[in-house]
Amino acid sequence: MTDANTVAQHYSKGGLLDRIKAGLAAMGASEPLDIEILAAADEFHIGGRRATVPFMKQLAMNSDSRVLDLGSGLGGPARFAAKTTGAHVTGIDLTAEFVAAGQALTEMSRLSDLVDLVEGSVLKLPFADNSFDAAYMIHVGMNIADKAGIANEAARVLRPGGVFAIYDVMQVGDDDLIFPVPWASNPSANALDKPSVYRDALAEAGFILEAEQDRTGFARDFFAALTANQTAAGGPPPLGLHLVMGAETKTMVANMVQNIADGRIAPIEMFARLPD
Ligand SMILES: C[S@@+](CC[C@H](N)C(=O)[O-])C[C@H]1O[C@@H](n2cnc3c(N)ncnc32)[C@H](O)[C@@H]1O
Repeated sequence: MTDANTVAQHYSKGGLLDRIKAGLAAMGASEPLDIEILAAADEFHIGGRRATVPFMKQLAMNSDSRVLDLGSGLGGPARFAAKTTGAHVTGIDLTAEFVAAGQALTEMSRLSDLVDLVEGSVLKLPFADNSFDAAYMIHVGMNIADKAGIANEAARVLRPGGVFAIYDVMQVGDDDLIFPVPWASNPSANALDKPSVYRDALAEAGFILEAEQDRTGFARDFFAALTANQTAAGGPPPLGLHLVMGAETKTMVANMVQNIADGRIAPIEMFARLPD
């Protein structure tokens, strides 16, 4: 089991926005912020922006779309979706520091008309029934044991025919995980589940699973390139996820790579839809 306080504590390091602002300054970035530069620090999942681009395409958003980002973190995927499609994106996240930094970055990117980030739990969404056309969740379910609760809430707030896309790290082997990993320093914040648990939760909530994709090959290539780049550069760039993950970043990433290589975990996408 995981609880909200343990999860929020895991992600809260303090001083995040100042670190990102310093990184942006070192990159010579000025307002309005270029979301492509920001992507190095605000896309907190395997593959970063490179994973978000093909994932979002499958949601077929446009300027009429009302979209919900479950566990929006710093809001990188939400700003990308809004900026590139004109959709209105609402993000909800448990970690107050991420929401506050995300709101500031949205203003600095001049995207406040299209992106709202609010603090709260995906298990108790403060939104009316049928209020979104599409919902997505990127690397969040690993912190939430109640997969049925996530799927039920997504089904409630989506309109009939609405799509729910998931890109999560899932358990694919039976061996114990090596900790720390980016979503949990120890087992207390970890709620990894097998793809079958997600499928069952989606089906029980009334979704029809339309597609599923294992992104392990992509993840291996991504981490190999990341390691090579950082070795060549002699360390991380001024703007990167180390600003978000903190002192344990190197170990967390190395353990994630090892857990994937050993077949314990895999990044997996699922695209599900409610009947019309
Ligand atoms: C690895 S980050 C991913 C953030 C974002 N989706 C992204 O890809 O950049 C996981 C996020 O899930 C959030 N989270 C975990 N459990 C949650 C819950 N029950 N409700 C809302 N957010 C939650 C955390 O606060 C954290 O921001």
